[in-house]
Amino acid sequence: MTNRTADALLFFRAWLSAPLRVASVTPSGRALSSLMIAEITSQTGTVIELGPGTGVFTDALLRQGVAEENLVLVEYGAEFANQLANRFPAAKTVQMDAAQLRKLPLHATAPVGAIVSGLPVLSMPMRKVYAILSGAFSHLRHGGAFYQFTYGPRCPISRPLLDRLGLKATYVGWTFANIPPAAVYRITQRRPKKPSEQRHQSELFDPPTDLSYGPAR
Ligand SMILES: C[S@@+](CC[C@H](N)C(=O)[O-])C[C@H]1O[C@@H](n2cnc3c(N)ncnc32)[C@H](O)[C@@H]1O
Repeated sequence: MTNRTADALLFFRAWLSAPLRVASVTPSGRALSSLMIAEITSQTGTVIELGPGTGVFTDALLRQGVAEENLVLVEYGAEFANQLANRFPAAKTVQMDAAQLRKLPLHATAPVGAIVSGLPVLSMPMRKVYAILSGAFSHLRHGGAFYQFTYGPRCPISRPLLDRLGLKATYVGWTFANIPPAAVYRITQRRPKKPSEQRHQSELFDPPTDLSYGPAR
């Protein structure tokens, strides 16, 4: 059995046991992987990947020239986390809920320049997405970017949530050559973080209750 077939089987079995968490019956394809990491280079610094699954984006990042020791892989599923740790021994693999990201001690040698998310944010409660984004931007350096793909027709992060965190979403591209077809968005801060805003963001860690969870347009 080839690695790809074994990965496809592992992924399918994981989906059978946790369909909401895994959210797809098969790993992302090459076209989506290329789109997700297109703006990342060997100069990006530390890259955090959320929900790597069998590591298709991880492979693409390595092909793009990102050093394996500059990768932090955050995966909730034990079946995936064990395999990632074996396959990418120089990367830091952490088995945890990405909603706890803010508490992750990084000890990274290079600042975090990008976060690549394969998380199924559309099937997550708004409070959880809030915690993930808030934690992610507490680690990202100024000017860093959070990349998220979606099978939906628009950005999967709601406009009120982006507004609340001072973020903006920019469409990166779309690929039909994936099952199912998918789009990628880059999420960045609207303007450089000032010290007062950093304080404001941590105060916002407990999400407000007045956000309706509609998609951003
Ligand atoms: C749609 S799959 C994407 C996998 C891979 N990135 C790909 O594109 O093939 C979602 C992944 O996110 C992981 N995941 C889901 N919820 C998570 C959470 N709260 N924290 C960390 N990982 C999570 C799942 O275990 C799965 O590996």
